Amino acid sequence: MQGLYRQIYERSLSQPEIFWAEAAEALHWDRKWDRVIDDSRAPFYAWFEGGKLNTCYNAVDRHVAVGRGSQPAIIHDSPVTGTKRTITFAELKDLTARFAGAMVQHGVRHGDRVIIYMPMVPEALVAMLACARIGAVHSVVFGGFAAHELATRIDDAKPVMIVAASCGIEPGRVVPYKPLLDRAIAEATHKPNHCIILAREQCEAELQAPRDLDWTAAMAAAHPVDCVPVDATDPLYILYTSGTTGQPKGVVRDNGGHATALLWSMRHIYGVEPGEVYWAASDVGWVVGHSYICYAPLLNGNTTIVYEGKPIGTPDAGAFWRVISEHKVSVMFTAPTAFRAIRKEDPEGDFVRQYDLSRFRTLFLAGERCDPDTLLWAEAQLGVPVIDHWWQTETGWAIAANPLGIEKLPVKPGSPTLPMPGYDVQILDEEGERVTKPGTIGAIVVKLPLPPSCLPTLWNADDRFRQAYLTRYPGYYLTGDAGYIDEDGYLFIMSRIDDIINVAGHRLSTGGMEEVLAGHPAVAECAVIGVADELKGELPMGFVVLQGGVTKPDEEIKKELVAKVRDEIGPVAAFKLVAVVKRLPKTRSGKILRGTMKSLADDKPWKMPATIDDPAILDEIAGDLRTLGYAKSFKKD
Ligand code: COA
Ligand code: AMP
Repeated sequence: MQGLYRQIYERSLSQPEIFWAEAAEALHWDRKWDRVIDDSRAPFYAWFEGGKLNTCYNAVDRHVAVGRGSQPAIIHDSPVTGTKRTITFAELKDLTARFAGAMVQHGVRHGDRVIIYMPMVPEALVAMLACARIGAVHSVVFGGFAAHELATRIDDAKPVMIVAASCGIEPGRVVPYKPLLDRAIAEATHKPNHCIILAREQCEAELQAPRDLDWTAAMAAAHPVDCVPVDATDPLYILYTSGTTGQPKGVVRDNGGHATALLWSMRHIYGVEPGEVYWAASDVGWVVGHSYICYAPLLNGNTTIVYEGKPIGTPDAGAFWRVISEHKVSVMFTAPTAFRAIRKEDPEGDFVRQYDLSRFRTLFLAGERCDPDTLLWAEAQLGVPVIDHWWQTETGWAIAANPLGIEKLPVKPGSPTLPMPGYDVQILDEEGERVTKPGTIGAIVVKLPLPPSCLPTLWNADDRFRQAYLTRYPGYYLTGDAGYIDEDGYLFIMSRIDDIINVAGHRLSTGGMEEVLAGHPAVAECAVIGVADELKGELPMGFVVLQGGVTKPDEEIKKELVAKVRDEIGPVAAFKLVAVVKRLPKTRSGKILRGTMKSLADDKPWKMPATIDDPAILDEIAGDLRTLGYAKSFKKD
């Protein structure tokens, strides 16, 4: 076991330049690179320096050129609108060339930023690919984020153009995007020159001339443009992700390293051949959507599915199986939370048996910790390998996985298996010493340099990049996750070491939520923690101490706080649990004991911190937690 994988992995570490140059050969390059990896600015690294290529050409035009034009590139399956639509590679080429032409006509140039705020419609991919076509840098903002979050991103990315749709559709409710967009632009200091709005029949958008343009009209008036070769090191996109404050981090992705690693991953990790149908049930607003709804499947010549629906309720818990059987999906990728939701509705798998899943080969799960129960249930129902793999926005592809395209390694439920090529994953203790004893928990780090596709830096924030990822352990990239490696080298991801929480596979910052709560006039002090949740993995829970003299009833304040987080961060934060408390537990130096509160809430073993200022506060907090349905077994040790 681990024979071929081990050989490939070790070669990637001992001869990275040869390894990645071979992988890059699978792409079309307009100019070959001068150096595979440029380490002259370490700890900043650049892949394929001197090379020129175009990501859109490689994802779309290249396939048309070799006769794949009539193959479906995108299948839009939208149970929330009751529609389905197929776009071939030839059609996708025409659409992206034309939309790129519309962008150029309205002033978008190489290196300009374009924000894309769209639901799960094929036009979101068209806009992304059109940016890549002309060397513009896209930044997709998830539709479940509120106007304020969009405004923050507008001010950081400074887009010349924003592409949006008139609305998104959630089960039972239409979400008008245009008012959110208008609010965000009004709030932001930076103003885009133009917005192109895709009108959907479920909701009209009011266009403000001359700034706003209609998608269909802009397309009709545009001349198609060709792919422009860009530097391999040019940014392809910026994707904002939660940091420790309300100011999100703009993860930068380059062109050459990204295309190389993603194409490699499709064959070697997911084991997918060109021509097959691949489905990532996520959203274009997340990194999974960028990598595995848009870029990787198209780079590999696969048909990708853009699914506008949920695992349950659209219309039932058989939704995934219908899509798999109807579109002949070979490999699927989603978050464990989707399977927990399906299992809750259909524990015996009655829906599974209603569909022909004979073409379906493998299920991949990522985005949050995959509990063994969920993995084993999915395996039993589907009768195919279920593969947990671990990665993050910063990397763009798996740090650890079971590389089915190389060999299937034994699955250990609870582990995303082994590190992928280029990732020298290590566990370090508090002092930065490498932990060698199997099973010892520590900070998970990756020895520099990171492999292709990983972030070269943060947008306009080299210092923040250094500070957030490279300073704690010099020479290593800090993943922000804690865990251990067992005696077979298998990795186990246990928790975050910062204040990031994972709600239904969505990465959120408790620090960001605290900033929102602290902005309420009645709040003197607050803390937000992530508590365990059976369905969503974690849920945010807020504790607020009120200012003296506040007379408003607690219940009213709580409602206002829930609405404030929804309004400023977005519904996706799922912030619904909040308690008004007299005081917060702190150390004598004034640090809030969030870790202890979390252990109490989750009924995990905990120790009275030696530095606690006043132990009696924990009794009060446990009482509040019990009122919210948590800390059922609280007792002081
Ligand atoms: N636009 C606007 N609102 C959105 C949205 C979007 N694109 N996506 C989610 N929301 C809203 C939802 O409507 C919901 O609002 P509500 O509080 O009014 O009900 C809220 O944000 C939370 O949404 P969600 O996290 O989807 O939870 P849910 O309770 O509606 O559904 C699951 C639970 C498990 C079915 C759902 O989380 C899911 O399908 N998860 C899959 C995970 C996934 O794709 N992760 C991506 C990373 S791989
Ligand atoms: P995101 O950047 O949104 O993809 O979130 C990345 C974070 O999600 C990681 O740093 C982990 O904390 C968590 N995560 C993702 N995949 C896994 C996994 N397979 N197992 C455990 N945690 C995961």
